[in-house]
Amino acid sequence: MTTSTQTTPVKWEDDVLVLLDQTRLPVETIYLQLTTAEQVWGSIRRLEVRGAPAIGMAAAYGLYLGIRGSEVQTYEQFWQELNSQADYLGTSRPTAVNLFWALDRIKARVQQNSALPVDELKKAVLDEALAIQKEDAEVCRTIGEHLLTLLQDGMGVLTHCNPGALATAAYGTATAPFYLAKERGWDLKVYADETRPVLQGARLTAYELQQAGIDVTLICDNMAAMVMSQGKVQAVVVGTDRVAANGDVANKIGTYGVAVLAKAHGIPFYVAAPLSSVDLATATGAEIPIEERPAEEITHGLGKQVAPDDIKVYNPAFDVTPAQYITAIVTETGIFKPEEIAKSKQ
Ligand code: MRU
Repeated sequence: MTTSTQTTPVKWEDDVLVLLDQTRLPVETIYLQLTTAEQVWGSIRRLEVRGAPAIGMAAAYGLYLGIRGSEVQTYEQFWQELNSQADYLGTSRPTAVNLFWALDRIKARVQQNSALPVDELKKAVLDEALAIQKEDAEVCRTIGEHLLTLLQDGMGVLTHCNPGALATAAYGTATAPFYLAKERGWDLKVYADETRPVLQGARLTAYELQQAGIDVTLICDNMAAMVMSQGKVQAVVVGTDRVAANGDVANKIGTYGVAVLAKAHGIPFYVAAPLSSVDLATATGAEIPIEERPAEEITHGLGKQVAPDDIKVYNPAFDVTPAQYITAIVTETGIFKPEEIAKSKQ
């Protein structure tokens, strides 16, 4: 189902988790072979695998790697070990709810099968991880179909960060309509924000869309206002790490600014959100935990020192776009006004 031009960030091959090291793109294509939960934790933390759905997939396989060597014999002991591994993996990154969603989904599968022997429970854990990855590709494609109904041939579309194939099982969420438009012979012009400080837009979105033959133009984050004022952009589509029950949306730092700019220019602002990113247990965006990352991401961008020694730095990795700036949230179940996002799960 995946088009051959897409790069797969997460693979389960010969009992090993294979991750495309996204910190090395676009210059080097290096695959990491992971066999322990600790390695998976580190890969998530270091952004070797990143993007909300891909983090969830990696954590799911990480949970299997964490329990597959267990020697316990009873369900109770197995359940305890599963929970402690899940809690551990849950400390890798706080914002993308997909991580917790995937771990909870596996725990639920084990609970439902509590009568099975431990070896069978281990198989169920791997089976659920594989199912999560398989379903994600279908979910993304469906989101892309819905988003395409909001776009038109010939449009300019701006995106931020990497909500792409590299962040999912296939297609990406916000990039899915770009792949589908290409399949249909449409001519969309994509503008990719570089996305400071870690440059997911420049290193990943520009890379994967260019590889797929999609018309993509890279801009610095501070050019978005100018590009919008020049009439080059008719829609903004971004991904998300967590949607709160009131329709507030956490996504890569800078998304909020793009939403404000879009509103100022009368441009619709769409959020692509798989249901695995919709967190109705979190009432508003103010309650979403926002990860803060090391100062070096700003002071030593691309490894080169660009700020004075010992400068104070504030480096939140995500921001929250208030629902009022969002035209619609698009999930696999349809297109929703932000304040009606609860309906997406009914
Ligand atoms: O820090 P990252 O690279 O994991 O941040 C990723 C994003 O913010 C994406 O836009 C989001 O996870 C959506 S991915 C479909």
